[in-house]
Amino acid sequence: MSNLENILRNKVSCKSVWFMRQAGRYLPEFRKIRSKNKNFIKLCLNSKLSSEITLQPIKRYNLDSAIIFSDILMVPYALGQKIKFTKDKGPKLSKFNTKHFLNNNKRDFLQKLSPIYKAIEITRKKLDKKKSLISFIGAPWTLLIYMFDIKKNEIEIDHNKFNSLKNFDQVLNQLIAYLCYHIENQINAGADVVQIFDSWAGLIPKGKLKKYCFKPNAKIVSFCRNKNIPNICFPKGIKKKYEDFNKFVKPDAINLDYEIDPLWAKQKLKNVVLQGGLDPKILLKKDNEILKGATKYIKAFNNIPYVFNLGHGLLPQTDPDKLSKLITFYRNFNG
Ligand code: CP3
Repeated sequence: MSNLENILRNKVSCKSVWFMRQAGRYLPEFRKIRSKNKNFIKLCLNSKLSSEITLQPIKRYNLDSAIIFSDILMVPYALGQKIKFTKDKGPKLSKFNTKHFLNNNKRDFLQKLSPIYKAIEITRKKLDKKKSLISFIGAPWTLLIYMFDIKKNEIEIDHNKFNSLKNFDQVLNQLIAYLCYHIENQINAGADVVQIFDSWAGLIPKGKLKKYCFKPNAKIVSFCRNKNIPNICFPKGIKKKYEDFNKFVKPDAINLDYEIDPLWAKQKLKNVVLQGGLDPKILLKKDNEILKGATKYIKAFNNIPYVFNLGHGLLPQTDPDKLSKLITFYRNFNG
């Protein structure tokens, strides 16, 4: 059993480190491949390159876990929406069509995403048995933001774009079903853990958190529990509601974002493995500030099951050598 899987299944306390967006633009070896592969979706569907990129941070830092190089938007892509990644503006999806969406079938979905599953197979064979291969999905709310092109500064008005949809419940349930299918396929291909990214949960209007965040995440976690799949949730930006989220959803682990105070988390988040928390922006600062920031988390979670990670993904401007120093510091920390 891999180190991360052991922590999640058996709630043991031992050292384990990986980073969100560990395979990405801050690494020169990634940028080299990326510059020759301008189409991001095509790159995600190139099993050989995707596997190579997944292993880049493992080779460089000997991290405890690899996360498959792909994107949360591959699911909307497989369900029929075209995706454009434009510089600065982020991803843009073609217009959502309810009829087309509800007409999807599992066979086409499987065929479209089979290169991801192949990449997982290839990677698993190359990866040390003690290391986890993490699969992931986007949570429904975070995906709906992109699928319906919701403007993040007008969320209160704009989320009615899908809320007022006649078949909204049907759309949501179908999305959840395909997300569970994608989890299962990734696990069958050789991944041993799944992380569920609800990166935009912090934008959900007051009073709607249960409907758009807790309930969909709970459905997916309960699917994982039934299939015995270790799971990590990341409801980013919901502040003190992390406590209610944990009680309602009951994931195996929860990734803290950088707004959550580690001591508060230790006190309030029970029966769950904690992961991450450190602000990725701290890696842009001087060494002593980075290590001071890291110490806060390492000390707070010293004697409980904790996976070292960040409070959001690594920033593209991160210096790879600073990350190396942080990893060494964490690994050598006694206290
Ligand atoms: O973490 C990893 O190393 C694994 C791969 C991974 C990517 N995206 C690769 C990627 C994972 C787990 C994701 C998740 C993802 N994708 C999320 C949830 C996590 C988060 O960061 O909040 C979201 C919201 C997306 C959607 C997405 N994909 C955006 C907004 C963008 C463009 C802006 C950005 O942050 O880069 C992407 C593109 C993307 N996905 C890149 C990578 C390495 C950059 C591609 C490039 O331009 O080279």
